[in-house]
Amino acid sequence: MVCSRFVYLDNSATTPVRPEVVAAMEQALRETFGNPSARHHLGLAAEKALQEAREQVAGVLGVAPEEIIFTSGGTEANNLALKGLARALRRRGRHLITTMVEHPSVLNTCRQLEEEGFAVTYLPVDASGCLDAARVAAALRPDTVLVSIMHVNNEVGAVQPIEAVGRLLAARPEKVYFHVDAVQSFARLPLKPGAWHLDLVSISAHKIHGPKGVGALYVRRGTRLAPLMGGGDQEGGLRPGTENVPGIVGFGTAASLAAGDAAAGERMAALRRRLWEGISRAVPEVRYNGPPPERAAPHILNVSFEVQAEVLLHALEAVGIYVSSGAACHSRRPEPSHVLAAMGLKGSALAGAIRFSLSPLTTAEDIDYTVAKLGELVPQLRRYQGRRRTTRGK
Ligand SMILES: Cc1ncc(COP(=O)(O)O)c(C=O)c1O
Repeated sequence: MVCSRFVYLDNSATTPVRPEVVAAMEQALRETFGNPSARHHLGLAAEKALQEAREQVAGVLGVAPEEIIFTSGGTEANNLALKGLARALRRRGRHLITTMVEHPSVLNTCRQLEEEGFAVTYLPVDASGCLDAARVAAALRPDTVLVSIMHVNNEVGAVQPIEAVGRLLAARPEKVYFHVDAVQSFARLPLKPGAWHLDLVSISAHKIHGPKGVGALYVRRGTRLAPLMGGGDQEGGLRPGTENVPGIVGFGTAASLAAGDAAAGERMAALRRRLWEGISRAVPEVRYNGPPPERAAPHILNVSFEVQAEVLLHALEAVGIYVSSGAACHSRRPEPSHVLAAMGLKGSALAGAIRFSLSPLTTAEDIDYTVAKLGELVPQLRRYQGRRRTTRGK
């Protein structure tokens, strides 16, 4: 079905690429095609384009350009951070701490490390998806080498207490490294690797209107990592292979555009409030899944509607609204969300959770249209579901 409206509220899965990013990438593809390692002027031009992008990304984080290692995305950055550090320090200690609500690229990497002989503590969160920093302190052991915690949860938008954890780890006599998966917060929320004592930070371009397949790991100077792959000495030997110059150029452009829009956070927070208040007015008996306002990211709202999420998702799609029924990476699988399950959701609340995720391009009209359509569709779908249940019971 073709619908004249197009409202994209699945920005935590991925974002549309900005036209300025497309233009910069096209120019890089056409003109900056030299191998950055080549010593002639085409190579030097490509090397210069990489350096510029490195400075743009580093500038958003307030770190040195040499501390940015470009990767193929957030997943690879998380793998490099966890496996790279654990393997490099395996003689010092074999215990890691993370949370139960991390992205699969952290959780499954931890499981792989467990198979290699590491021990991992998975910390629980409260019913709103928030971690208590005191749990990290309580889980530390003499052999703990790494703590890995996401900044913003991709499913419910809980902002974790990164600054407090950084402070408590920095006060320890023995160095415990701190990795933060900032894929959902980079260029959206303040993030200060220096002041917050972070050693490793994962970020990804396609969540900020850049291209897919490119990301980066911030590696604080002096942090030792074992590379995942053997190869040349690109990216300080930590990420060998000829660099994805157009992708990296696109990432740099997207990062600097995001940094130039300082009011985006407040705008998104106001729209998120408008969405939740609108839903609460238009649809009876909905359940908010997520953190209190002071711990909520400005761009993610998770709500259960007492309607099968898949059914509502497709009904919304038919009227031009795109949302998610869980994290994109596992939403094709029927398993319930591990994040919502860790928050204690069960039954229809778990099966009926929808994630709305905003971007700096989201408008008030997008929100109002979505609220109006939810007000029409949810009661209809509930009636239909109720009828089916009754007929099945006969
Ligand atoms: C919190 C978080 N970490 C990591 C990733 C993986 O990033 P990428 O898609 O660039 O591999 C995602 C993507 O959804 C994410 O939301």
